[in-house]
Amino acid sequence: GELRLGARLATQQVAGSLVARRGDLLARLDHLPWKINPYPVYREIRERAEGGLYRSTFGLWVTPDHALGHAVLRDRRWKVAGDPYDALTEDREARAVPEFDLSFLAMDAPDHTRLRRLARPAFSPRRIDAYRPLVERVANRLLDDVERRGRLGEVDLMADFCAPLPIAVITELLGIPDVDATRFTAYGRVVGGALDGVRNLPQAHRLRAATRDLNALFNDMIELRRRQPGEDAISLLVSELDGGEPAITAAELVGVCKLLLIAGFETTVNLLGNGLLALHRTPGQWKQLVADPGLAADAVEETLRYDAPVQMTSRLAGEEMELAGRTIGKGHLAIVLIGAAGRDPEAHDRPDVFDIARTQRTEHLAFSGGVHYCLGAPLARMEGEVALRVLAERLPDMRITRRPKRRRTTTIRGITELPVKTA
Ligand code: HEM
Repeated sequence: GELRLGARLATQQVAGSLVARRGDLLARLDHLPWKINPYPVYREIRERAEGGLYRSTFGLWVTPDHALGHAVLRDRRWKVAGDPYDALTEDREARAVPEFDLSFLAMDAPDHTRLRRLARPAFSPRRIDAYRPLVERVANRLLDDVERRGRLGEVDLMADFCAPLPIAVITELLGIPDVDATRFTAYGRVVGGALDGVRNLPQAHRLRAATRDLNALFNDMIELRRRQPGEDAISLLVSELDGGEPAITAAELVGVCKLLLIAGFETTVNLLGNGLLALHRTPGQWKQLVADPGLAADAVEETLRYDAPVQMTSRLAGEEMELAGRTIGKGHLAIVLIGAAGRDPEAHDRPDVFDIARTQRTEHLAFSGGVHYCLGAPLARMEGEVALRVLAERLPDMRITRRPKRRRTTTIRGITELPVKTA
C-alpha cells in the first residue's frame, strides 16, 4: 500500500500552492501563517460552506462542521482506498510519493475488517487497564529527571516527557527491547510529516530510510516472537500468523506493527503538548487542574476537541451520492476537517474557549468515526489522563518560559519544544 491519504493531500497541496493566494481556503491551510494557526481559516470555511459543505478549487469537498463530518466518516459509501478522480492525479510530485504502509488505516472492507479484527485483542479494555501501572511508573520516572534538572534551569517538556512517555508505552506494549527514544521520535516525525504529502527528495529519502529500519526491526521481532512468545501484542499477532488458515501474511503483519507503533505515539505526544499549552495559555485552567487533578480526564477530552493532534482526514466517494443537497461524483474526494469540527458552534457551547470543567460535553471527532475510529483511543485517553494528572501533582508551579516551536505540518498539529521552569 502506498501512503494514500498523503498522496491525496500532497496532490491538493501542490495544486494548492498555486491557488492559495487566489483565495482557496483549503489550500491556504498549507501556508504560513495559517499552518501555525488554522482556526481562523476553519471559521471562514464554515462561513462560506453551503449546508455544511465547502467546495475547494479542483472540486474537493470539505466538511468544517461536526455533524456532516461525522456523517461522512460513518457512511460506508465513503472509502479510504481507491483512486481519486481528476486531473490532479496526473501531478508528477503526487505520483512520486514513496511507500509507507499504513496497513488497515488505508484499507476498506474486507481487508480492513480482517486486519483490524486481528489487532483488536491487543487493545481490549482489560489489556489497556493492565498498562496503567506501567504508564504511571514511566511518567514518574521521567519526572524524577525533569525535577532534578528543573532545579538547575529550563527544561524542554516535549523532549523530556511528552515524547518519551508514549514511545515507552507503545514499545513496551509491542515488546520492543532497547528502545532509543530519540530515534523513534525521528521516525514519528518523518512518517507523521509525510501525511501531508512528500514534497522533496530529502524527505522521500528519510521516509524510505525509516521504512527500511522499521521493516528490519519488525521482521526481527516477528522471528523472535515465533520462537519465544511473550505477553506482548506482537506475540498475540504472531499466534494468528501461524494459526493454520492464512488469516494474515507476514508482510501484512509487519504493516500492522508499523501502524500500531507510529499511530501509538506520533499522535499522543501532540495530545500532551497541545494540552499543556492550552492549560497554560488559558487563564485559570492549569490552576484548576492543580487544585483538582481528578479533572485530568476532562482536560484530555477538552484538548482533543479544542486542538486535535490529527486535524483532518480524507475519504473517497465509492459511488455517486447526495450530500447536503449536492451531487457527489464517484471518486470525488472529501476532506473532513476534524480540527474545525471541534470548534463548531452547533456542536459545542463557546467553541473557542478552552474549559476543562465544561458540564456539557459533545463527543469530538479527534479519534475519527465509523469503521476507522481510532483503535488506540482507550490507550491514548489513559496515557493522557495519567500524564496530565502526574504533571499537575508533581509540577504545580511549572510555567512556560518562551513561545514554543510549532510543527509546520497540516495534518498533524503539535509543538516540537515546550520550554518550562518547574519551580
Ligand atoms: C486511527 C487519532 C492514538 C492506533 C486513528 C484515526 C484518527 C486517530 C483520527 C482515524 C483516521 C481516519 O479515520 O482516517 C488518534 C489520536 C490519538 C491516537 C488523536 C492520540 C491522542 C492512538 C494510539 C494508538 C492508535 C495510542 C495505538 C496504537 C490507531 C489505529 C488506527 C487509528 C490502529 C487505525 C484504525 C482503523 O483504520 O481501523 N487514530 N489516535 N491511535 N489509530 Fe489513533
